[in-house]
Amino acid sequence: MPETIAAAPTAASVAGLLAEVGGTGTDPVRGGYSRPVWSTAELELREWFTAHAAARGLDVEADRNGVLWAWWNPAGLPLTDAVVTGSHLDSVPGGGAFDGPLGVAAALAAVDHLRGRDLAPRRPLALAVFPEEEGSRFGVACLGSRLLTGAIGADRARALRDPDGNSFADVAARHGLDPRRVGRDDETLARIGTFVELHVEQGRGLVDLGRPVAIGSSILGHGRWRLTVSGEGNHAGTTLMADRRDPLVAAAQVVVAARDAARAHPPARATVGRVQPVPGGTNVIASRVDLWLDVRHPDDATTAALVAQIHERARQVAAAEGCTAELVEESFSPTAHFDPALRERLREVLPDAPVLDTGAGHDAGVLAAHLPTAMLFVRNPSGVSHSPAEHVEDVDAEVGATALADVLADLLTR
Ligand code: GLV
Ligand code: MN
Ligand code: MN
Ligand code: MN
Repeated sequence: MPETIAAAPTAASVAGLLAEVGGTGTDPVRGGYSRPVWSTAELELREWFTAHAAARGLDVEADRNGVLWAWWNPAGLPLTDAVVTGSHLDSVPGGGAFDGPLGVAAALAAVDHLRGRDLAPRRPLALAVFPEEEGSRFGVACLGSRLLTGAIGADRARALRDPDGNSFADVAARHGLDPRRVGRDDETLARIGTFVELHVEQGRGLVDLGRPVAIGSSILGHGRWRLTVSGEGNHAGTTLMADRRDPLVAAAQVVVAARDAARAHPPARATVGRVQPVPGGTNVIASRVDLWLDVRHPDDATTAALVAQIHERARQVAAAEGCTAELVEESFSPTAHFDPALRERLREVLPDAPVLDTGAGHDAGVLAAHLPTAMLFVRNPSGVSHSPAEHVEDVDAEVGATALADVLADLLTR
């Protein structure tokens, strides 16, 4: 854990900061990291963040939705119109080291850069850490920012369940939140003037351009749907092939149908990354299969049409197997365009940075519906993400943190 840092620090290196948590939440089965929200690993990372923020003299608080805020306000300005930067510390199952933590570590390093410059901030700065960005525990991505902005209703959020059947309300209460108070938080929202999230790039845009840092333009609309195929559970040895109503046979065809539907509508993406046969025994014909569909397209109407098409196909293949198929939307995020005026300001500060869009969701996308929001992406030489193969070179991480500091300095002082 960090020493208290004196007034004009040398900036901590992003790689050094990330190395401190490099052993936390590693997943020996899947490889990479599994740090679901409020797991021991994610809590340890939050403590790491809190200790580093405190060592820099920042005031750390958790809001009623579990978002961590660390305030840097040397001039004692009113906590309004703040410039906010940050990201998340939870991960997908078997994820990489950078998706989330890079933006948090870069935010800490950027504060060091700013404290080493002779700035007279006209606005407060806050670092933010959002819980459950990946939705890998309760199923709804960006749950923290959705709660903060009211993009998900409090009742619905409280009732969400993790794979062990624990409700969000119960788990939140165990971790110090008052579940009756989760939900849209106008007081906290009113404090934020601008949000800038730095993130590892999750594709090959920067690798192909040979550049270390990009400015974000937009996030592809995306959503998650749960498809439940119901059939008849039975014995794998005694049930003749002609007598089966096997929902997994139908589900397998839905996986292919989703792939085909997206291929027919470029640049759509459709993925089934999670399939759960119930009860899930080798010698048991499943009675039910839940599968989760992730569909993305820049045109929200096309996304809706694709989902409808996949559902219709699911009904057909289910019927052919003597099964039924039901679809429920779990979350949807319309295509988000970052604030054009803010983007122009970032371009003035970083004239060499290309402007790229992304197919990955972020809290910045949720916040973009409420306030001027921007993103910075840092080159990922593998072009791979949501995988242990995700990577950022140390030198690029530093370039990213410096770019973030330059952007923050401009926003704080101009
Ligand atoms: C989150 O990273 C997503 O894009 O699903
Ligand atoms: Mn992320
Ligand atoms: Mn992610
Ligand atoms: Mn994400």
